[in-house]
Amino acid sequence: MLSPAPQSKTDAFIAFKDVHKAFDGPPVLDGLSLEIKRGDTTVILGPSGAGKSVMLKLMIGLLQPDRGEIHLEGNRVDEWPEQDWGTLRSRIGFLFQHGALFDSMSVLENVAFPLREHTELDATERRNRVHEMLALLGVDELIDRLPAELSGGQQKRVALARAVVLRPECMLYDEPTTGLDPIRSDVVAKLIHMLRRELQPTSVVVTHDIPLAFKVADRIMLLRDGRVHLAGAPNVFKESDDPIVRSFLDGNATADDLQPMPGAAS
Ligand SMILES: Nc1ncnc2c1ncn2[C@@H]1O[C@H](COP(=O)(O)OP(=O)(O)OP(=O)(O)O)[C@@H](O)[C@H]1O
Ligand SMILES: [Mg+2]
Repeated sequence: MLSPAPQSKTDAFIAFKDVHKAFDGPPVLDGLSLEIKRGDTTVILGPSGAGKSVMLKLMIGLLQPDRGEIHLEGNRVDEWPEQDWGTLRSRIGFLFQHGALFDSMSVLENVAFPLREHTELDATERRNRVHEMLALLGVDELIDRLPAELSGGQQKRVALARAVVLRPECMLYDEPTTGLDPIRSDVVAKLIHMLRRELQPTSVVVTHDIPLAFKVADRIMLLRDGRVHLAGAPNVFKESDDPIVRSFLDGNATADDLQPMPGAAS
């Protein structure tokens, strides 16, 4: 019988080593180490303000760590200058937490933008590809509108179409279902699955949507106090009796969570 191939170092598409990041106040990331395996869908959970969006921005060089190392496909990238990021970023789809559509461009122009920048497709082919992506997300009738003429949920779906239109090798989703109704949330889960079937991208999904997390995750990580509190297969989380994990999954607040916010009237 063949023995399994040894796991090479490049199995980790993304690796953080002892990453520290603070802004003006206390540390946001405080010695964060993690590995995201190539081809896996990894879900990141964590309380609001835990540094999940900061972590995603560090992954594509939109922020730099104060200390520590970030590796993509085995390359240390945290010291790369901005001009070195172009090619790598074109292979990574990023769904920002807060929209980030180009206000002056129509939905068609927004979603076609990465196709214009990175492919040889002509205008008709681009429109077809955009239409196909929008139809999948149920917003194809909005193709000629401007972002200001869309609801928050519609903007989210258009931004999602733009993030996946190049069929990237790696997808980073920041809160893909926030602002969507449950049916549309399910469409997002199906889209993540469909992309996985077709392209096997390495995916990182930051979410507060626990049903989504369990639908799509190969692996889950809970971020807390600037580090990974627990990482493992979905079953590890389902079966965990760690009170922090339980409160997170079951929506039960711990005594700490019930403390009033600093400065709040009591
Ligand atoms: N560019 C920035 N400048 C200053 N502070 C920042 C910046 N980006 C993030 N922060 C701070 O870092 C902390 C973590 O922010 P982050 O957006 O990563 O949280 P999060 O885990 O994504 O929360 P949520 O679930 O609410 O989206 C917050 O206290 C935030 O105010
Ligand atoms: Mg966030």
